Amino acid sequence: MEVEYILPRIASLVNPLRVAVLISGTGAGLNALLEHQQTSRTHSTKLILSNNNDAYGLIYGNKYDIRCKVIPLPNTSNKDLQRTMHEDLINQELINYNIELIVLNGYMRILTPSFVSKWKGRIINIHPSLLPKFPGAHAHRDVIKAKATESGCTIHLVDDGVDTGYILAQEKVSINSLDNIKSLQEKIKKVEHRLYPKVIDDISIGKYHIKS
Ligand code: GRF
Repeated sequence: MEVEYILPRIASLVNPLRVAVLISGTGAGLNALLEHQQTSRTHSTKLILSNNNDAYGLIYGNKYDIRCKVIPLPNTSNKDLQRTMHEDLINQELINYNIELIVLNGYMRILTPSFVSKWKGRIINIHPSLLPKFPGAHAHRDVIKAKATESGCTIHLVDDGVDTGYILAQEKVSINSLDNIKSLQEKIKKVEHRLYPKVIDDISIGKYHIKS
């Protein structure tokens, strides 16, 4: 049976939504959110998790004095077991920190339906294309290869599919003949960094009303 989206509670300045951000890489998007949250907001990042010990974005834990933890993949050759064990460790950490909203920003693992069902409506992903066009891990490459004239970013709720969940917001960027993967990535990151903290503002004050 399909699990419905359950959105987070409506938060307030005195009791902001407790956010966890999952990263695997540079964490530039994480930094944009943390900067946004330097002004009093109805959401606050309490936990940064990464599967990757070398993720540059881990520095932001220290910089902003936020609990930051690396949870590497457990050491077992059984891939299904490894995935489940890993997600159980993540889930436990989220529960320990009373997390209410999970943000996937550059988190390079696909979450299992079992994990998603526990958090459905309370996990958002930032994807660098205009979904449903160009889902997957190589959106910029695929956009350039297709000679598309526009792309953009999508902020969506996570469901069981890959980049298929309910779309909360999108913004376009245009592509010119000089653009390549890197320049497109930079253009889109600028837009993402402005847009997704505002989407979290909106989520935390109950602006979205969603049925599965
Ligand atoms: C963003 O472009 C986002 O669209 C994608 O991952 C990127 C995050 O990169 N999901 P960074 O770690 O913030 O540099």
